[in-house]
Amino acid sequence: MDSNGRTDGATRGELVRAGLASDDVHLVHYADQWPVPGTRAEKRASRNTMVFFGLAILLGIAGIAIYVGWPWGYQPPTTDGYTLYSWYTPLLGITVGGALLSLAIGLFRYEKKFLPEEKAVQQRHDGPSPESGRATASAMLTDAAARSGVGRRRVMLGAAGLAAGIPMLGATVAAVGGLVRNPWRDSRPENTLWHTGWYAQSGEAVHLRRYTEDPDEVALVRPEDLDAGAYLTVFPFRESERGDRDKLEEALKRSDNPAVLFRFRPGTQVAPRPGQENYHYGDFYAYSKICTHLGCPVSLFEQQTDVLLCPCHQSQFDLKRSAEPMFGPAVRPLPQLPIDYDPNTGTLVARGDFSGPIGPGFWELGS
Ligand code: FES
Repeated sequence: MDSNGRTDGATRGELVRAGLASDDVHLVHYADQWPVPGTRAEKRASRNTMVFFGLAILLGIAGIAIYVGWPWGYQPPTTDGYTLYSWYTPLLGITVGGALLSLAIGLFRYEKKFLPEEKAVQQRHDGPSPESGRATASAMLTDAAARSGVGRRRVMLGAAGLAAGIPMLGATVAAVGGLVRNPWRDSRPENTLWHTGWYAQSGEAVHLRRYTEDPDEVALVRPEDLDAGAYLTVFPFRESERGDRDKLEEALKRSDNPAVLFRFRPGTQVAPRPGQENYHYGDFYAYSKICTHLGCPVSLFEQQTDVLLCPCHQSQFDLKRSAEPMFGPAVRPLPQLPIDYDPNTGTLVARGDFSGPIGPGFWELGS
């Protein structure tokens, strides 16, 4: 092809029409949008399109910066860092969503303002196009590119490429970033993924605490608090945390802490799991409240059958068989919390952490 777009003596335009005609397509109208290059109107259209590519670049960079550098770690509502923490997800949505939207608008404007105007009529036919049709298809594409001024609009094309590349880079950072952080970096055992807030630190007793509306109020659970056949959601509490609002609130908010305490009716036959025969105190049994399917709170209790139901995808756990799943997508029993009675305080306490890892995910591999 020569510099005038000629191939074997035919101009690119002639090839386009010939190629279309061989495919039963007839161009009714085919014209450049800007036959005279460099007019003020063309420059204005170019500037307006560039604004959106520029916006996509800036928002994409901002999205990556926020994902990498924003203080995303959980902060309780009462702390100074809560406002910054609570803006993390909205800002990610605004920047990444805005970058993609700006890119889409920029591409839409480019197509509307700079590609040739075309109206064509095509007869439908079966089978692949003939060889000549396929050969001329590439001529059509290069012709459209040439007419749209690709050669003269390198800056705009560069901006479009950058605007598309940066959100993609952001998506890659988001996908890979979560794998880069090391969950084992904090060597204190109570903070690794294997432990929850029930983990016994330095031998201090961990009491079962009931939630009340006031996070400062510590309501420890006594056996007489539960009637036979009743259940209660409980959280861990240590005496050393009394009066420490942050610690008290963290114990309530930590996602793997919630447990459900049951009191079976007298005479109920319960089959413990091997090795967990002494995890209960009398008729009292406690299990993790986090579903082993996808982590919803398992909070529907069918009292007549002693079955716990997860409202998300209807997994059912048979409490009389150590919370084994009996229906639904969950395949692992709810981990059991070993409990006991503390005669000094008259309350129920945990004798250690749960019998296994909490919730769903890669934990399945080891169980
Ligand atoms: S999260 Fe419980 S059944 Fe899916």
